[in-house]
Amino acid sequence: MASAGKIIKCKAAVAWEPNKPLVIEEIEVAPPEANEVRIKIVATGVCHTDLYHLFEGMHKDGFPTVLGHEGAGIVESVGPGVTEFQPGDKVIPLFISQCRECRFCKSPKTNQCEQGWAAHRYDAMASIATRFTCKGKKVLQFMGTSTFSEYTVMNQIAVAKIDPAAPLDKVCLLGCGVCTGFGAAVNTAKVEPDSTCAVFGLGAVGLAAVMGCKAAGAKRIFAVDINPDKFEKAKVFGATDFLNPNDHSKPISQVLAEMTGGGVDYSLECVGNVAVMRNALESCVKGWGVSVVVGWTDKHDFAARPIQLIAGRTWKGSLFGGFKSKDGVPGMVRAYMDKKIKLDEFITHNMDLVQINDAIELMKHGGWYILLLRTVVSESGVPEAMKYLPTMPPREFQPSILIS
Ligand SMILES: NC(=O)c1ccc[n+]([C@@H]2O[C@H](COP(=O)([O-])OP(=O)(O)OC[C@H]3O[C@@H](n4cnc5c(N)ncnc54)[C@H](O)[C@@H]3O)[C@@H](O)[C@H]2O)c1
Ligand SMILES: [Zn+2]
Ligand SMILES: [Zn+2]
Repeated sequence: MASAGKIIKCKAAVAWEPNKPLVIEEIEVAPPEANEVRIKIVATGVCHTDLYHLFEGMHKDGFPTVLGHEGAGIVESVGPGVTEFQPGDKVIPLFISQCRECRFCKSPKTNQCEQGWAAHRYDAMASIATRFTCKGKKVLQFMGTSTFSEYTVMNQIAVAKIDPAAPLDKVCLLGCGVCTGFGAAVNTAKVEPDSTCAVFGLGAVGLAAVMGCKAAGAKRIFAVDINPDKFEKAKVFGATDFLNPNDHSKPISQVLAEMTGGGVDYSLECVGNVAVMRNALESCVKGWGVSVVVGWTDKHDFAARPIQLIAGRTWKGSLFGGFKSKDGVPGMVRAYMDKKIKLDEFITHNMDLVQINDAIELMKHGGWYILLLRTVVSESGVPEAMKYLPTMPPREFQPSILIS
């Protein structure tokens, strides 16, 4: 490649500060160093965790940054010592690494490698090692990935090589949301055949959890959301019952207990709200119920009565669906190619990188005006987005693209 070994100047959406629109800038992406690969990002999803960092977490040491952690691309060049990848390989950047050597990687009990960005600056959601500069300033790589950029640089322990036939504008969703929800059901909750499950929050993560419960053989899957527009989609992924907490005068845990003779076997919280986490815990049955926290927040404490756990419930959390990333993601890509899991059904919008603030605004409004699950941002994304955007009410939605 003619660009190998040289700085690449390319377009990226820079979050200069919290709670402000992203700015499309020309950034400089350094060549890969030892054990690193430089990747041309072809497509990326927008996940709620990008919004969390921008609008809720707002960590003072986490900016300026390039957000995005649900991408797929093609290796452009590799640094010294890289033997596993070559230019042209199709890859998915991973926000959880798998070095295969640390005590966490060696344990079958966890997917939390201690070599990645998360080991050192979990709260700021980015390490200080970055290959990006813009206007002479260092720009951080959010979750080590930064897929809202045309190019990024990753350590090879955080890159998965995937089937060369895989469509990148679909399998990018396996970089976060779909693996997270599916794995939370299958790997973390370990949903069993003929069980009853409840999934709280029906964004892409929650619907992937529904898909995981169904794949594991659950016989009844309750889909819970305050936005009833999500129920039709939940059916597509295997939900059997639909509950809007706002339709009930009593807590949803009580409603579920009455409908299931004491509570569900498994519940999964896919919202990121500590009150919903408690509800989900209280919705599972005493004796053996398992409740999994998937929604992301590091801002608030949660609470529950100890008797809930004393009575035999288990409360667990799940990061990236418990998948060991380099091993798990290529397997999920294969499952999609073999039509064993759905991906296309999660994509409600396609946009271009310059429309990234529109994609963020859509998700911020929770898909209340038009059904939103995932927006995939790619070079070929513009026309379809134009089809959708005019239907947004003008007072609630103000596109805010800034191009410097
Ligand atoms: N643990 C992980 O590794 C991991 C990875 C990715 C995302 N996440 C987190 O998962 C969560 C979901 O992500 P997403 O991209 O699907 O988000 P999303 O915004 O697309 O979906 C959230 C859904 O929750 C619903 N909701 C909001 N308040 C609710 C309530 N009180 N009761 C029931 N439903 C409610 C919304 O209507 C929406 O359908 C976020 O918190 C995200 O940060 C965690
Ligand atoms: Zn995510
Ligand atoms: Zn490791």
